[in-house]
Amino acid sequence: MPVVIRENEFVLQPIKNSSFCLLRSHFPYKNSHSPLNMLGWIAQPTGGIITRQNFNPSMDFVRSGYHGRSDSTGGSTVYKIAVMPGDGTGPEVTAEAVKVLRVAADKFGFKTELTEFDFGGERYKRTGETLPDSAVEELRKFDAILLGAIGHPDVAPGILEKGILLKARFELDQYINLRPVKLFPGVETPIKDKGPEHIDFTVVRENTGDLYTGTGGFTMKGTPNEVAIQAAVYNRFQVDRCLKYAFNYARKHGKKARGKGSKNTLALSGKTNVLTYIYDLWERAFHEMGEKEFPEIAREYYHVDATCMWFVKNPEWFDVIVTGNMFGDIITDLGAMIQGGMGIAAGGNLNPEGVSMFEPIGGSAPKYTGQGVINPLAAICAMQMMLSSLGEEKAADAVEKAVMYVTANKLKSLAAGRMGYSTSQVGDLVAKQLA
Ligand code: IPM
Ligand code: MN
Repeated sequence: MPVVIRENEFVLQPIKNSSFCLLRSHFPYKNSHSPLNMLGWIAQPTGGIITRQNFNPSMDFVRSGYHGRSDSTGGSTVYKIAVMPGDGTGPEVTAEAVKVLRVAADKFGFKTELTEFDFGGERYKRTGETLPDSAVEELRKFDAILLGAIGHPDVAPGILEKGILLKARFELDQYINLRPVKLFPGVETPIKDKGPEHIDFTVVRENTGDLYTGTGGFTMKGTPNEVAIQAAVYNRFQVDRCLKYAFNYARKHGKKARGKGSKNTLALSGKTNVLTYIYDLWERAFHEMGEKEFPEIAREYYHVDATCMWFVKNPEWFDVIVTGNMFGDIITDLGAMIQGGMGIAAGGNLNPEGVSMFEPIGGSAPKYTGQGVINPLAAICAMQMMLSSLGEEKAADAVEKAVMYVTANKLKSLAAGRMGYSTSQVGDLVAKQLA
């Protein structure tokens, strides 16, 4: 069937021997180099023209498409953002991130359409529901997800983490957990004699495999002979796609790319001396890919325990680090501390081909709930990472600069209750600096 393309129209292109159509548009969508951009797959076997009038956004997207598949009306892009404030102080910090997002949108000429979801501990207590399958399907339709915090003092550990956070990560196949460790000016680090010029690296944590797959079980549970097994699981595909992202990230954002060094470096953090299967696989894949596809990127290897040691002793050695899920979880908390603590540390759960989710990594901090004393900068920085992943690089840079201005010139401390300002005042300071 011929494909007709007209100005301002979407086109459904039927695919041979398939019950799906490709939804295309020839708008110059963000991050896409093709003149005819793929927006997604639609479960509708017939082709034809879809206009703005008959385009139904709830059409069944079987596979969400490309980055920046957002609507583009009258010249400005509209990003559909799912906002999940979550538990504890999550809503307070998310409100500040949204405040700054609105200012960024005004200033940089894009639009946002925010939809709030109330998944979290309160809803779980009320309904027994964590993140239902229907919600996962709903979330696939967004350009990005902004998350506050998950964790409730009245809910047993594991339920909300597994049921909401990990479920979203797994179901949306957010296979990268990106965690920049950057000391902003004016921020105190517990590491003596180190400043922003020493602490500026990024951890690329694999986010779908390893000890997080839930592979394992008990035998003879409750008896003195009880056995518990929890297995670290990786396949080559998972390792390769993570490495590819990390090498590309090093190429684009490494020290040389940022004008801060003579080369871009990717370091693998593993444990090849003990985990002789898993990290053997990682190490082989790392060097094979590096040699073949990224020869200009310097490769280093550190055991994970040594990584911790050098994070503290010589953080300036690091540029981009790639590691498995479990080690990544651990070393990024150490990273968060050396960049000034949970008040500032942000992360992105990325599916580079799908929907990504951004979060402050600090958790719900229940004891500070509702007092207006929690630091919203980590949530603002998560939103900043979201802008960057949506392709709004200028806005992302400006938000980062505004945060840096505030840390350098305004805040007394990044700790809850000791900032010298309330949560919303800190949001105002960043918003004002950005505007
Ligand atoms: C993190 C958190 C989560 C993880 C928990 C809450 C499941 O610690 O994002 O680092 O282990 O990944
Ligand atoms: Mn963690």
